[in-house]
Amino acid sequence: MTKIKFTFIGPIRQAVTLANLPLKGALRDEQLQVIQGAGILIKNQEIFKIGPYEDLYPEALTVDAEMVYLTEDFVALPGFVDCHTHLCFAGSRANDFAMRNAGKSYLEIAKAGGGIWDTVTQTRNASLEALVEGTVKRANRHLFEGVTTIEVKSGYGLSLSEEIKMLHAIKQANSETAADLIPTCLAAHICPKDFEGSAKEYLETISNELFPILKSENLSNRIDAFIEDSAFSPDDIADYFQKAKDLGLDITVHADQFHVGGSEVAVAFGAISADHLEASTEREIALLANSNTIAVALPGASMGLGVAFTPARKLLDAGGALAIASDWNPGSAPMGDLLMQAAVLGTYEKLSNAELLAGITCRAAAALGLSDRGSIAVGKLADIIFFQTSDYKDITYHQGKLKPEMVWKKGSCVWKAKG
Ligand code: NIG
Ligand code: FE
Repeated sequence: MTKIKFTFIGPIRQAVTLANLPLKGALRDEQLQVIQGAGILIKNQEIFKIGPYEDLYPEALTVDAEMVYLTEDFVALPGFVDCHTHLCFAGSRANDFAMRNAGKSYLEIAKAGGGIWDTVTQTRNASLEALVEGTVKRANRHLFEGVTTIEVKSGYGLSLSEEIKMLHAIKQANSETAADLIPTCLAAHICPKDFEGSAKEYLETISNELFPILKSENLSNRIDAFIEDSAFSPDDIADYFQKAKDLGLDITVHADQFHVGGSEVAVAFGAISADHLEASTEREIALLANSNTIAVALPGASMGLGVAFTPARKLLDAGGALAIASDWNPGSAPMGDLLMQAAVLGTYEKLSNAELLAGITCRAAAALGLSDRGSIAVGKLADIIFFQTSDYKDITYHQGKLKPEMVWKKGSCVWKAKG
């Protein structure tokens, strides 16, 4: 029998729990549960009790909890969830970035050897070990900035064996970092240049040959596709998504990034999320708001490409569910700073603290289908991050420069800024 371990943390100046918030629609800061002078009692990996420190203290003594006494002011939040990244990759696309800023078009950059295909080539040339190392390094950077759950896509392999290599790398990296990595198969990123056949034939090969392996090797239960003029059309993707659905795989879509079309497919297939949406119009906003598909804004991609932000305010006001993710990738979003990007999106899109924080905690967890995290509440995983301040509003106010002082993952402290 495993030994039961209790840990008691406090007193915490403010615990902002993100508990009991609706999944959809606009949120006011008054809806946030803020417990002043809180204590959190952890049992093994989970939150056992949360409430006023004084009330829980006697119980913590009774169960012989390890006491983590906080002598300074801290604000506790649930660990952040980044529900869309491509942080398993090799190489750099700094040349693309410079060319874009010099005014070159997407096509000119691709012709000059840049774009997604460049990262595919560099990733294929990398060993499994090198991919694991890069993934763990980036995941740990994220973790130390408070991101305790990180979705990671394949999509730079684009052949049966290379996609499997990426998914193996993500799986191995998951065992080498304290962060939880949630793998997604993005074999439908673009149609590979070296595939002899049509886009539909490529997708047919992948769904016939890769989908069963995803299941049998437990590599991923999520399928993503880039629906865009330069990638796959709604018609190309229909059979692929239907097969994924039939196998019980969750669907997520790179949708409406430059042109509309993707979000309609996402809603039609009951996708768990539709991500990007920079080009979405009132029509797509209404479609998403009236569906169970979570809209995911990727401000890091807007900043990396210098394009408009996802219409987050409109999506929320229409009644949609909005998560915010980093899209960390070597091409469009090389920065990978989730809190900074969410805070900047908040200033442009006029998001409340509640909307912004929900977008990177409970609503992002929902975009991954994870009900065991995203808030500080009884029975949830003890993924808790601590900022050294007395007012939670300081966190977004500093636009990402205020970083967590302590990060707890599944009931253990995995990062402390001061040793
Ligand atoms: O989410 N839009 C497609 N895929 C990525 C970019 C990947 C890349 O440029 O390497 C994105 O922005
Ligand atoms: Fe992406």
